[in-house]
Amino acid sequence: MGKNITHKIIEKHLVSGSMVPGEEVGLRIDQTLTQDATGTMAWLQYEAIGIGRVRTDLSVSYVDHNTLQMGFRNPDDHRFLRTVAAKSGAVFSPAGTGICHQLHLENFAKPGATLIGSDSHTPTAGGIGAMAMGAGGLSVALAMAGEAYFIPMPKVVKVELTGELTGWAQGKDVILELLRLLTVKGGVGKVFEYAGPGVASLSVPDRATITNMGAELGATTSIFPSDETTRDFLTKMGRADDWTELVADADAEYDEVVTINLSDLEPMVAQPHMPDQVCKVKDLAGKKIDQVAIGSCTNSSYSDLKNTAQILAGHMTPPETDLMISPGSKQVLKMLSREGLIEPLLDAGARLLECSCGPCIGMGGSPVSAGVSVRTFNRNFEGRSGTQDGQVYLASAQTAAKLALDGEFTDPATWGPAPDRVSLPDDVPSIRDLFVFPPEDGSSVEVLRGPNIVALEDFDKLPETVEAKVLLKVGDNITTDHILPAGAQITALRSNIPAISQYIFSRVDEGFVSRMQEHGKGVILGGENYGQGSSREHAALGPRHLGVKAVVVKSLARIHRANLVNFGILPLLLVDPSDYDRLEEGVDLTIPASEITPGGTVNMVAGNGATVAVTNDLTEKELQIIQAGGLLNAVREGKS
Ligand code: F3S
Repeated sequence: MGKNITHKIIEKHLVSGSMVPGEEVGLRIDQTLTQDATGTMAWLQYEAIGIGRVRTDLSVSYVDHNTLQMGFRNPDDHRFLRTVAAKSGAVFSPAGTGICHQLHLENFAKPGATLIGSDSHTPTAGGIGAMAMGAGGLSVALAMAGEAYFIPMPKVVKVELTGELTGWAQGKDVILELLRLLTVKGGVGKVFEYAGPGVASLSVPDRATITNMGAELGATTSIFPSDETTRDFLTKMGRADDWTELVADADAEYDEVVTINLSDLEPMVAQPHMPDQVCKVKDLAGKKIDQVAIGSCTNSSYSDLKNTAQILAGHMTPPETDLMISPGSKQVLKMLSREGLIEPLLDAGARLLECSCGPCIGMGGSPVSAGVSVRTFNRNFEGRSGTQDGQVYLASAQTAAKLALDGEFTDPATWGPAPDRVSLPDDVPSIRDLFVFPPEDGSSVEVLRGPNIVALEDFDKLPETVEAKVLLKVGDNITTDHILPAGAQITALRSNIPAISQYIFSRVDEGFVSRMQEHGKGVILGGENYGQGSSREHAALGPRHLGVKAVVVKSLARIHRANLVNFGILPLLLVDPSDYDRLEEGVDLTIPASEITPGGTVNMVAGNGATVAVTNDLTEKELQIIQAGGLLNAVREGKS
């Protein structure tokens, strides 16, 4: 039987398990990446493991989220990250160099390599054939320490691409179409592997946009073949030696197949407040637009911004429509500058922002109250823009640039000819010297900490019986942004767990933290897809610090589930989802924790005498980790 690309890579990196979908596999990890918002904690955890030098082929620490240095907290964290990377043998990318995924794609990712990153959009590197997965910071810390990364063996979905993109349709529209078809839950436990004659027509930036937003499907990852297009990209990046061909066997088998005819696609947009609320741009014609933001790890490549400049050249945005642009990397910025493409952006009224996540993570650029913001980003969850009632739409860079000029949604049939598809120049400028490579021997490097760097606390073991009240009941599709909002003030506290925990669920229920402090322990009750969205492990660490012992939900998002396990919180699933309606906030729960077995069912007893059956999808090892009080305890006890 022929093999698909996913199976080829997994087989080569398999250290434990059999490749049966759903069963746990352990993978050797070649590369890791961290970013400052989650990575500062990952590096504190790495230090707590006490291993010395990183044991991966390559680990890179990027600073791209909290680049604003207002007050001592962020600069303290950046200095800590720079020095701990030098001591530990990791590459450091300073603030302003670019967004981790764009930089990693351009400079470090390799076809056929395994990569995990403490950021959910790590699958961007799948655009050149890396098997790249978002993970909790602790899993990344362990991978840096040479430990395997454990995942349930995914199913492999073949996305058969036929036809060719035409007109204004872009890579973004491919993934928006998949989101429309499959929804934000459609990819859970699956790898989306792209194949078919349409692949050759897609550039690497288009492919990377598609794999980036595979995260919004809930997928384990997404991957493209490594072909002549990949070779050309890597050669132009000065990395011809990193290219290897990687294609599925002609008779490869897949668990599922989805077919998309690229020729049928037209500009699309995801409407507030979910990436799968997709419609055609023309269906919104006439709706006023207050703001357009072009950038983020999804659409900030040279081709995106060159097209943007071409569309804007010689025109002005209307005064009611704010336009901001964040290039993905200094390499992109240098190419634009060299080709005289900055001036048309500025002359059109655009604000040029730093090469960083910027508005995508709420670092400035919030829309006006109830404002309509068209963004080229990957997420449009309520409040993530920093404006609680902001109405965020997601579109390609080309669509966003055109709409910025129009000041309202218009029908693409009236837009005239689309700009030509862009390929990279032959002489791409290198930015390699901007990275800080570690010394051969880091033993004399002093790791510098400021008052914002607070060492990790120890967590207790799980008691045999959990007796706690439901202190919060939330609905479906709770995101990690709901659990812990982003934004400058909050994420500046990422290396200080006691301080950041004060913001847990602060935008959902202001009284939650005080109730937790009053009772010292509690349970959260949730609906479907609890914990979707960003990989931030503080959304598990913060609740754990406050004393959350279990989350009882209808279903869980993959990365957040892993984070709950890592920090010793029981992730329990209601056997009968209608029991959700029988449990109210304030009810006392007794959970027989010592009776829980992998995949088994136990009965919780509620204060009103009702019994509620809960199950789990934990492995034996994960259960041991939770019983030990989390993964760090388990590693120290030799149970992982
Ligand atoms: Fe940054 Fe937004 Fe991507 S926060 S890593 S640009 S999803």
